[in-house]
Amino acid sequence: MNEFAGKVAVVTGTTGIGRAVALHLARQGASVAALGIDLAANAELEKTATAESLILAVLHADVSVPDNVQSAMVAAAGSFGGIDIIVNAAAIHPYGDAETTSFETFMRCMAVNVGSIHLTAEYGVPEMRKRHGGVIVNLSSVQGHACQSGVSAYVASKGAIHALTRAMALDFAPDRIRVVSISPGSVRTPILELAARTFEGEDADIESVFERFGAAHPLGRIGEPEEVAALVAFLASDKAGFITGSDHRIDGGLTAGIGLR
Ligand SMILES: NC(=O)c1ccc[n+]([C@@H]2O[C@H](COP(=O)([O-])OP(=O)(O)OC[C@H]3O[C@@H](n4cnc5c(N)ncnc54)[C@H](O)[C@@H]3O)[C@@H](O)[C@H]2O)c1
Repeated sequence: MNEFAGKVAVVTGTTGIGRAVALHLARQGASVAALGIDLAANAELEKTATAESLILAVLHADVSVPDNVQSAMVAAAGSFGGIDIIVNAAAIHPYGDAETTSFETFMRCMAVNVGSIHLTAEYGVPEMRKRHGGVIVNLSSVQGHACQSGVSAYVASKGAIHALTRAMALDFAPDRIRVVSISPGSVRTPILELAARTFEGEDADIESVFERFGAAHPLGRIGEPEEVAALVAFLASDKAGFITGSDHRIDGGLTAGIGLR
């Protein structure tokens, strides 16, 4: 299947969900530019893409820095002839409440998690307009709907992503650019490993902590990055042509209940 043949996608984040999305879209025929700050992860993704002969360029970029994003978007559009799809999956997940999180950390979280979405749009939308349309998929979280304690900067950023998604959907609808967000529950990625180690200690048995996290979801397990990538691919495809401005939960039923039997 080559559902994305002729399409150019920019994906931020080169581990976890970003990695799975980049590979999924490239395997379906897209030309993909993956933007990441983690050198080891960038190299691993590049190696995987080369082994599979995918059209996937990995670009080192800090997505909170305007110059970095501009250069990467120019490189992606220049190499592949334009931009049709942007998937914003880069994020950081600082722990702490509004008293224990430094203001610098709060602002860094907003810059990486939300500012990057602004920046990829600032430099990507003009390219999409030239191609008479496009799709932007923003990774938010269930924590943008309801939240845990002790992660206030992350929660603020995820709520902001829902609001920014709606605003961008309205602003860019006349350009036939659709903008949606996705709110995952727990998914097997490095960010969840960080959660496991934060709550259970550095030596935690990650698989058994993941099992416990999974048990909190009505479906009884955590999600896999490929399951999120499949939803991203659907929303980015022409099959989703009438979908914009909306958030899409993929959480094993986590937010369906009120926590009582
Ligand atoms: N895994 C989960 O349980 C879960 C749940 C809900 C939402 N999410 C969201 O899904 C998205 C993807 O996260 P993930 O689960 O794949 O975790 P992850 O940690 O594997 O991915 C985040 C990526 O962002 C990159 N990154 C961080 N700062 C950056 C910067 N300044 N510039 C460029 N890249 C940077 C990291 O290097 C990493 O590759 C995030 O928005 C996250 O908040 C994840």
